[in-house]
Amino acid sequence: MSEPKKLFIKTYGCQMNVYDSERMAEALGGQGYVETKSPDDADMILLNTCHIREKAAEKVYSELGRFKGLKAEKPDLKIGVAGCVAQAEGQEIMRRQPLVDLVVGPQSYHRLPEMEAKTRTGEKALDTDFPEEDKFEKLKNRPKAKRGPTAFLTVQEGCDKFCAFCVVPYTRGAEVSRPADRIIREAQDLVERGVREITLLGQNVNAYHGAGPNGDMTLAGLIWELNKVDGLERIRFTTSHPNDMTDDLIEAHGTCDKLMPYLHLPVQSGSDHILKRMNRSHTAESYLRLIERIRAARPDILMSGDFIVGFPEESDADFQATLDLVDEVQYGYAYSFKYSTRPGTPAAERPQVDPQVADERLQRLQALITRDQRKIQDSMVGRNVHVLFEKPGRQQGQMVGKSEYLHAVHVADADVAVGALREVRITSSGANSLAGELV
Ligand code: SAH
Ligand code: SF4
Ligand code: F3S
Repeated sequence: MSEPKKLFIKTYGCQMNVYDSERMAEALGGQGYVETKSPDDADMILLNTCHIREKAAEKVYSELGRFKGLKAEKPDLKIGVAGCVAQAEGQEIMRRQPLVDLVVGPQSYHRLPEMEAKTRTGEKALDTDFPEEDKFEKLKNRPKAKRGPTAFLTVQEGCDKFCAFCVVPYTRGAEVSRPADRIIREAQDLVERGVREITLLGQNVNAYHGAGPNGDMTLAGLIWELNKVDGLERIRFTTSHPNDMTDDLIEAHGTCDKLMPYLHLPVQSGSDHILKRMNRSHTAESYLRLIERIRAARPDILMSGDFIVGFPEESDADFQATLDLVDEVQYGYAYSFKYSTRPGTPAAERPQVDPQVADERLQRLQALITRDQRKIQDSMVGRNVHVLFEKPGRQQGQMVGKSEYLHAVHVADADVAVGALREVRITSSGANSLAGELV
């Protein structure tokens, strides 16, 4: 038997890219590829890229430059660029970096096997179409390998919201939902392979409206169906838009036992003027009232969010409104970014904030977020939580997992297997994780 070819995939960006990388590895598995952890012994290198901020996109070119030596030593090595930079820049990537053999957009991964074959004949392969088909369905012939206890499952892709700063509607295309029965089958398959927790993914996951047996199904409807899957213990979803938090989804947070008390709900800014300029179509007030309703349904829910500072025209008063909102919500986690100009988006044309001012604002916001994050994490001490154990810890005998609130928890001398779900009493809170003991 000939040696299997080796595939090295490096993933940037969001969880959807993580899911897509797994699917690409499976698609190329059918071509005789096995994954390797090092680019040095690879026959094919794939960078699954992110275009969300300038830094993310530029990283791709510096990474590609580093493969020059490898390619010179090994002329048969094929180098591919997938993901959102591939979609956004297409052929331009091959022009800028001629060692690239293949460019594939996020909607065309099911065509990878043919594209790989094309590169083997010495040609270049490019596909950045948005075909009208469920690419995940085409990628189904996956090996029944054992899996870890947690998995991502993409249920929805694309976005129709067109926030003024964002490339996603251009790189991922229009909003599309997968049919419910396919998602449920995929979930059952994951559970058979050892998965206990599934995170449903979508750029706008709560806009999900996939075909169900009785017409379109909402995300809440889908979650209730998944709640019936035996052996599945936990359901999460990300990322949600405030305008798509429907009543049934809010209610499910209070009544659906497998749905975890954690919600990532980006707001971006606390200033109505900026929100309007961002084309967010919600106000700070409507966001705060929404969180009140979510907390009424599930009082202990841990909220997380995303923020952009230094958006064009952001004044000191606008920024103060963001700080005030953060203070009011008390996020358990929050991610904040300095505004990055994305060519082709409406905000790119507007007067930009002084980068130094933006830097200073980012530091202040992050300090506030860290303070709340720490306070909420510390408040877990003395409480009992449930931990899904994912892997051994750094110390001998230690096991680590996640609580329902997504806090990392480690337990010393824990006699538990990977995949076990156990009650743990939290005894202390560290920099980025909690420690506890089995109850
Ligand atoms: N679909 C999700 C996530 C989009 S990208 C949502 O709507 O929330 C993830 C985060 O990146 C966004 O929430 C936003 O905070 C940030 N982001 C997007 N475009 C950006 C830009 N041009 N500059 C800085 N941050 C950006
Ligand atoms: Fe981007 Fe806005 Fe769509 Fe989120 S909702 S993906 S931030 S355009
Ligand atoms: Fe990045 Fe594309 Fe995800 S731009 S954040 S990889 S959808």
